[in-house]
Amino acid sequence: MKLSENALKVLQKRYLAKDEKGNLIETPEDMFKRVAKTVALADKFYDEDANIEETEKKFYDLMTSLRFLPNSPTLMNAGRPLGQLSACFVLPVEDSMEGIFDAIKNAALIHKSGGGTGFSFSRLRPKGSTVRTTGGVASGPVSFMKVFNAATEAVKQGGTRRGANMAILRVDHPDILEFIKCKQDNKEITNFNISVALTEKFMEAAIKGEDYELIDPHTKKVKGKLNAKEVFELIVKMAWTNGEPGIVFIDRINEKNPTPNLGDIESTNPCGEQPLLPYESCNLGSINLAKMIKKVGEKYEIDYELLEKTIYDAVHFLDNVIDVNVYPLPQIERMTKKTRKIGLGVMGFADMLILLGIPYDSEEAVNLADNLMKFINEKSKEASRALAKKRGPFPEFYNSIYKDGEPLRNATTTTIAPTGTISIIAGVSSGIEPLFAVAFWRNVLDNEKLVEVNYLFEKIMKQRGLYSKELMDKVAQKGTIQDIEEIPEDIRRIFVTAHDISPIYHVRMQAAFQKWTDNAVSKTVNFKNDATVEDVKAVYLLAYKLGCKGVTIYRDGSREGQVINVGVKD
Ligand code: CDP
Repeated sequence: MKLSENALKVLQKRYLAKDEKGNLIETPEDMFKRVAKTVALADKFYDEDANIEETEKKFYDLMTSLRFLPNSPTLMNAGRPLGQLSACFVLPVEDSMEGIFDAIKNAALIHKSGGGTGFSFSRLRPKGSTVRTTGGVASGPVSFMKVFNAATEAVKQGGTRRGANMAILRVDHPDILEFIKCKQDNKEITNFNISVALTEKFMEAAIKGEDYELIDPHTKKVKGKLNAKEVFELIVKMAWTNGEPGIVFIDRINEKNPTPNLGDIESTNPCGEQPLLPYESCNLGSINLAKMIKKVGEKYEIDYELLEKTIYDAVHFLDNVIDVNVYPLPQIERMTKKTRKIGLGVMGFADMLILLGIPYDSEEAVNLADNLMKFINEKSKEASRALAKKRGPFPEFYNSIYKDGEPLRNATTTTIAPTGTISIIAGVSSGIEPLFAVAFWRNVLDNEKLVEVNYLFEKIMKQRGLYSKELMDKVAQKGTIQDIEEIPEDIRRIFVTAHDISPIYHVRMQAAFQKWTDNAVSKTVNFKNDATVEDVKAVYLLAYKLGCKGVTIYRDGSREGQVINVGVKD
C-alpha cells in the first residue's frame, strides 16, 4: 500500500495493534485485513453458504485501494477486544439525578471506545426551579454540562481518543440565554460543541421581530417571553466572537425523521452531521472522491461506473458493521438494530474538483455537487433495497415514512462526515471542505520548520516547471496563492482555499449536498477575521433559506489557541 508519512504516523499512534510493551504488532495491511475479515463475517448471519472469503477480499480491496474508509472506531476496534465500531451516539438526559448520572456513565463507556456522544439538555428543569424530594433548587442544564465535561476530561487519558460531545438546548428553554453564552470564556466547557435547537416558530418570530415563549419542560408552563430577533442576534454575536454556538433547525430535522413513531429527534452527534433518536447509534463511512476519476484523452471525468460499484460495496460493508458491532449498552443495540441507520458520505471533494479543473466557488461546482450527491443517494438506496431483498427490511420499516415503497434495509443511508482523521489516512482533502491551505510549515524538532505542499499543487507546479523551494516558502507564508503573481491565473483560480471562498459559497455547497443527504452535512463556513456580525447573520439566514439542517461558522483567529493556523502547523 502507498500511504503518506502523515498517514503512517496517525496509524501507528492510534490504529495499529500493539503488544503490552507498546510495540506495533500489525502493519496497515494487517489492520485492513483484520477489519475486512471481521466485517465480512456478518454475511454468514443471513446465508450459511455465503462466500465470506470473497466478501473479505472485496472489503479489503475497497479499503486498501483507499476508495472507501469506515469511521475511525471501525478501523481501531474491529476484530479486537473492544469491538465497538460506531462513531456516533445520542443519549437521553432525563430530568432526574439517576437520569443525569446514568447519561454520564454511559457517555464514559462510549468515549472509552472512540465514539462521540450528543445530548439534548432540553428536558432538564431550569435553574432555580424546585426539587420536590429535597426542597432544594435545581442547578439547570449549563451547570450539569460542566459535570459531563469533567467526566469526559477524566476519561480522556485512558480512552482510544479524546471524547467529543454535543450539547443541544431548545431555544424555548428558560435557561437559553445562559446556554448561548456558556462557552464565551472557553475555559469551562472544553469537551463540548454546543448548538441551539431553533424551532420554525422561533425562526418566523425572529424574521418578523416578534416575541416568543419560554416553556419550562418540567411543568410545561410558560416561564416568560423573549424577543426572537434579539435572541437570534445574540447567537450570531457569540458565534462571531468564537465560533459557538452553532445552530440546528430541529423541526426541519424532525420533518425528515424516518421513524417518527419511535420518537422525536432531540440531538445530533458531536460534529452535527448525524441526527439520532435517544440511544441510537450510527456508523459512518466515506468514499474517496479523488479516486472516482478517470482520464479520458487529456481530461479527467467522474468515473460513475466505479462510483456505483463502490457505493454498493460500501453499503454492504456498513450494513454488516451493524451486525458485528459490540454495543456499549443493550438499549443502544436494540435501538440501533430497529432502524439500522448507516451514514455513507464522501471525502476528497475539493481534490476531485481540482482534478476536474473546476473552482470550488463556482456555479459549476455547486451543480456538480448536486448531481453527484443525488447519484450517491439514489444508488445507496438501490443498494439498501437489494440488501433488503436478501436480509429483510429494517425492523421498523412498516412503521416508517418509507412503508408504502419498496423495502429498505436501512432507515437512512447518507451522511457527510468531517472525516478529520480518515482523510489524513487516505491523503486527501477532508469531507466536502475546500483546501485549508495550499502549503504550510509544519513544526518538526525544536526550531526546524518543514514546508508541506498540497500534493496536487506540487504536481501541477512541477509539470509546468514552476516549482521552487523559494516559491513554496512564499506560499506557505501566505497560505493562499490568490495574489502571488508568479503563479499563472488558471492555477490560482483552481487552488482556492477556505478563506478565499466567500461564506455564501460555503453555504451554497453545504445546501447542495444537504439536498441529497438523509442525515446532515458536516461543514464549517469560514469567515475572514474582518467579517462583521452582519455577515454572519446573513449566512445563518441563508442556510435557513436554502434548507440546511444546521450551520457551524468560524471566523479566522477568533478563538484563542486556534488549532489550525494558516502558516504554521505543529
Ligand atoms: O475521520 P474520523 O472517522 O476519525 O472521524 P470524523 O469524520 O472526523 O468524525 C465523525 C464523528 O466521529 C464525529 O461527528 C463524532 O461523532 C466522532 N468523533 C469523536 O467522537 N471524537 C473525535 N475526536 C472525533 C470524531
